[in-house]
Amino acid sequence: MRTPLDPFDLFRETIGKLTGNGIILVAGDPPNPMTIGWATLGEIWHRPVMTVLVRPTRFTYALMEKSRDFSVCVLGEAYEKHLAFCGTKSGRDHDKIRVCGFTMEPGIRISTPYIAESDFHFECRMIYKQGLNPDALYPSINEQFYPRRDWHTVYFGEIEGAFRK
Ligand SMILES: Cc1cc2nc3c(=O)[nH]c(=O)nc-3n(C[C@H](O)[C@H](O)[C@H](O)COP(=O)(O)O)c2cc1C
Repeated sequence: MRTPLDPFDLFRETIGKLTGNGIILVAGDPPNPMTIGWATLGEIWHRPVMTVLVRPTRFTYALMEKSRDFSVCVLGEAYEKHLAFCGTKSGRDHDKIRVCGFTMEPGIRISTPYIAESDFHFECRMIYKQGLNPDALYPSINEQFYPRRDWHTVYFGEIEGAFRK
């Protein structure tokens, strides 16, 4: 049973996890979980929006390109190892849901499922995406984060709902 919440009430907790062990982006059918450490929560186009950044080398990238929506799941401290696994192993080679023992529940407002073990999750509908333009990027950020020229695509998801366990 999940309780709907104002997504911005979860702001601090979510940012705390991003700068900690990460949170999980779920995309695709069948779904694949990937740990992310970069995301923003804000207000654009009079909508609550979450943005996530995915490098083109990730299995998740191909899934996001085919998806209309995605879920973002925030797990408790006991899931540090699961977050490390989903952040170092690829869905190309591993059934990460099975290995982690995650229970996937159908999305409440979107087609992508969420991880039932998460403390809370966001359900996001894709409303915009944009590959980073290296020419417009601050030079030292470009050098520090993109020596392999694998610039992220930024996906903007309208938050259709945020739910706590
Ligand atoms: C803490 C942490 C944060 C990460 N953040 C991101 C991120 O924001 N964007 C990204 O593309 N990869 C990020 N990664 C790397 C991916 O999670 C990793 O490459 C993963 O194995 C890709 O899985 P996939 O191939 O199944 O998509 C992060 C990894 C860790 C451990």
